[in-house]
Amino acid sequence: MDIVEIINKKKNGKILTANEIQFFVDGVCSGKIKDYQTTSLLMAICLNGMTDEETYCLTMSMARSGKMLNLDDVGVCVDKHSTGGVSDTTTLVVVPVLASLGIKTAKMSGRSLGFTGGTADKMEVFKGYNTEISTDKFVSLIKENNASIISQSADFALADKIIYKLRSDSGTVENLSLIASSIMSKKIACGAKIIVLDCKYGSGAFMKTKKDCKKLAKLMVEIGKRAGIKVCAVISSMQQPLTEFVGNNFEVYSSIKVLSGEKNNLRELSCYLASAILVLSERCKTILEAEELVKNAIDSGSAKQKLRQIVKSQGGDDSIIDSPETLLNCKNKFEVQTDKAGYISKIDTAEIGRISHDLQKIDGVVKRQDDVGIILNVKLGDKVNLSDKLATMYYNNLDDLPELAKRLKNCFVVGKKPKKNKLIECVIGV
Ligand code: URA
Repeated sequence: MDIVEIINKKKNGKILTANEIQFFVDGVCSGKIKDYQTTSLLMAICLNGMTDEETYCLTMSMARSGKMLNLDDVGVCVDKHSTGGVSDTTTLVVVPVLASLGIKTAKMSGRSLGFTGGTADKMEVFKGYNTEISTDKFVSLIKENNASIISQSADFALADKIIYKLRSDSGTVENLSLIASSIMSKKIACGAKIIVLDCKYGSGAFMKTKKDCKKLAKLMVEIGKRAGIKVCAVISSMQQPLTEFVGNNFEVYSSIKVLSGEKNNLRELSCYLASAILVLSERCKTILEAEELVKNAIDSGSAKQKLRQIVKSQGGDDSIIDSPETLLNCKNKFEVQTDKAGYISKIDTAEIGRISHDLQKIDGVVKRQDDVGIILNVKLGDKVNLSDKLATMYYNNLDDLPELAKRLKNCFVVGKKPKKNKLIECVIGV
């Protein structure tokens, strides 16, 4: 087989065989296929697409390209995955809720990617928390505590790790087949048998429209089912950040507040995702019945207690769970105001994520700083008067404060009252 022939075949809109896809994935991992050949094929895939069958073959080849975790010894394990958003901290709520209800949750999480945040980074806000424990320790903690949250190791779905980096650098991220195979290969390799996918659409998501988001969700659900996994997808809005808090410390703060009883969109979506898992795992018959259990796990404090156990077991300092306000200690702040009266009709959510990321830059290079971030003072549909606060930026040292402030202000469109933005659109596969 020859990679140039495979590239030409896809360039001409033809369908690749399972063997050709396997040859490509093997070559990527061994280094026999060069980066320029990989990106060439990725671009041809972006331009001409892949059939569902090709996408399934790519997913399975990538899933098998590294270690495959067998969790049979632990029992049936569940997992959740978000397609990526801004202020999206549901894992910190969903995992302790499920674990407190006796559901074994094996969570391998990503790092911040582009405008999106990463759960692994957020767990490290608990000082000392080790996201890089061995697979054996991961398995033993799931047995002991019903849950462990670690960072996605390169040992799993190795091909995805290599391809993802090349996609980022070659403008080939936003393709349904490539996104679905990237996400599902990692999920399949990590061994959970029940998965809820949180599929986001909107200005802060990879899928900008509901229609594309539903297509992606259906594709991933079908791939999961074919691979023998029970999977459903919740379609949710990312037309604005999930909460008003953006940035690692801020987002951990907001998840602790939800586990302490605060009612907001983060609670609503987390409850729904956890409930979908309870239905898929046949613990409950309906989402409504499951939501009762989930809300009780939060309101009784047992989920918060479980978070404490998860954090302590992986070496983290749990004191911030009792005093989350200490997370909001950034030195400097700058408020951005509107120069127009009207309604908040649009929010550029991805740009808010990028600005939050850029607040960590020192001399143009990101130097991780968990205490910086943004607090939004308005939501979609809010009425604002001239000079009302739109958002507050928290920073340590910035060379380009005026530039970031200008960008932040431009994230908010003030105009006509928008249509109501529904947080949860529907669920596919339950
Ligand atoms: N998350 C992933 O893991 N892969 C993608 O391609 C997009 C989001």
